[in-house]
Amino acid sequence: LKHFLTTEGLSRDLLTDILDQAEGFLGVAQQAVKKVPLCRGKVIANLFFETSTRTRTTFELAAKRLSADVLNLNISTSATAKGETLLDTLRNLEAMHVDMFVVRHATSGAAHFIAAHADPHVSVINAGDGRHAHPTQAMLDMFTIRRHKQDFSRLRVAIVGDIMHSRVARSQILALKTLGVPEVRVIAPSTLMPNGIEEAFGVRAYHDLREGVRDVDVIIMLRIQHERMNSSLLPSEHEYFRLFGLTEERLSTAQPDAIVMHPGPINRGVEMDSQVADGPRSVILEQVSNGIAVRMAVMSMCIGTQNLKSQPQGDVDG
Ligand code: CP
Repeated sequence: LKHFLTTEGLSRDLLTDILDQAEGFLGVAQQAVKKVPLCRGKVIANLFFETSTRTRTTFELAAKRLSADVLNLNISTSATAKGETLLDTLRNLEAMHVDMFVVRHATSGAAHFIAAHADPHVSVINAGDGRHAHPTQAMLDMFTIRRHKQDFSRLRVAIVGDIMHSRVARSQILALKTLGVPEVRVIAPSTLMPNGIEEAFGVRAYHDLREGVRDVDVIIMLRIQHERMNSSLLPSEHEYFRLFGLTEERLSTAQPDAIVMHPGPINRGVEMDSQVADGPRSVILEQVSNGIAVRMAVMSMCIGTQNLKSQPQGDVDG
């Protein structure tokens, strides 16, 4: 694996390999054992041109547990604010012998652009680009689903909310279909549902939450991406919650062991009730924890010097 930019076009074997490798990293990710030296001597630069809490910090933790050196560029205080171009910023970081860029950017295609222009020895991971893709989020979600449900081939999965502007939904749908999930439902108001999504992605579209979550095994709630839309398209938050907010009563129509997911950040009382977000079916914080192991897997597959299996774990102190 050279870059990890999208879940589109990746094989089931590769996605499964990422999940299997992440399983092997869980002990290190959860600090049950010490760091592993798979990326010792490598330099990883986090370039976040858009805000982030979970993704940036779990990438940093994952890199440190692989024994890499980590640079966190603070874009708001970097020379980008003085007008330096993206390419000039890249060239300067490459001069510091960076091996990997982890990139978040508001523009769709930014990570592909960087991968196309970076020095050939540098790997690029997409940490979210515009409305396009957020592949490591999708993989940590697949990892969380597999840990709870084991077998993708019997699942009904519902993705609820702002499907139109969500890079997470797009990456999840592609990964779910590749991993063999037979029924993926998308549930949204018509203003937040892309035209032709059923034909383009092989999913079933619903505009009624109660109907859409009936009998599903997994419910993934999404945040409304106000920053990527014309807000006049939207109902008020109160109205949105009334129609599309997940409550315990609505959740009761799903399978009794259905899990509830959300990539974060949550807007409580808008896309879901606190009782659901903090309730027994919620695996939202588990998703965050799993992000460390999954990002360790992806980073080590791109720039690791050894295979996890050939490496005795816990042989390196901090
Ligand atoms: N899920 C996600 O991408 O969260 P952050 O924006 O906090 O990174």
